[in-house]
Amino acid sequence: MTREGEHILSIEGLDVSYGGVQAVRGVTLSVAPGEIVGLVGESGSGKSTVLRATAGLLGRSGRVSGGAIRYRGRDVTALSRRELAALRGSELAYVFQDPTASLDPLCRIGSQFGECIRAHGTAQGGAVRALERDLLNEMGFEDPDRVLGAYPHELSGGMCQRVVLAMSVACDPSLLLADEPTSALDVTSQLQVSNLLLRIREQRGCSVLIVSHNIAAIGQVADRVGVMRRGELVEIGARDQVLREPQHPYTRALIAAVPKTDGTLPGVTVSGEGCDDVA
Ligand SMILES: Nc1ncnc2c1ncn2[C@@H]1O[C@H](COP(=O)(O)OP(=O)(O)O)[C@@H](O)[C@H]1O
Ligand SMILES: [Mg+2]
Repeated sequence: MTREGEHILSIEGLDVSYGGVQAVRGVTLSVAPGEIVGLVGESGSGKSTVLRATAGLLGRSGRVSGGAIRYRGRDVTALSRRELAALRGSELAYVFQDPTASLDPLCRIGSQFGECIRAHGTAQGGAVRALERDLLNEMGFEDPDRVLGAYPHELSGGMCQRVVLAMSVACDPSLLLADEPTSALDVTSQLQVSNLLLRIREQRGCSVLIVSHNIAAIGQVADRVGVMRRGELVEIGARDQVLREPQHPYTRALIAAVPKTDGTLPGVTVSGEGCDDVA
């Protein structure tokens, strides 16, 4: 259990290097229970590296070279591979940009979903299919049986991402790490997946750390927004504060770059270099 006031995730002075190249420098941020924190920044700014380090998924080439990552007070960087895998299977869920890469193309959704639920030990026997239907319903599917009988290529990208979200919450995670979960989707599916993330937080109370290069996508869901540039966190604050009164010139540039046609930021209209309140 998390004690009152304790963070689910606390990252302090995180440095990450690939070989001799430092990709993330001195990043400090925290995620409270039930909070959605969004990281935004251009491609290569180190967003995915922060998420992968948090999940212990840096691979062979990446290394945490400084700082600490604490999940419920436990230092993730000190865990063995086996302990990390157990953590990912029970409390941390990771959602990738490309949902089709998370799904086996040769396997019907029902069979891979069932495997995932049995692996987590969440349900057994006949209860597995019932849980699959419930979770797909929760993710907005009105006909779960049709989805369970389908192969990934028979579903749209947005549907696949909702299936991946259903699988992710099967272990009832307390922290969802989402790497550009809407970036590969059309605008309608983007909104649907963003709304689902909000619903997952509301109904399950889980915390979310989400990253995207799209500040409008982050603005749709995050309570707090952090801005990354060249491996550093240059600004972090409450969503409305960062979007309405950005302190860093780079944040102002990101906001000014939102296309007027699709990117109205929540409570903010973008005009020229700055932004005006409409609320
Ligand atoms: N596996 C890797 N090996 C070497 N360099 C990497 C690797 N992954 C990322 N990088 C480098 O680290 C920096 C940050 O990358 P990344 O975290 O993927 O940024 P973002 O997610 O913001 O696009 C980039 O310069 C990228 O080239
Ligand atoms: Mg990335």
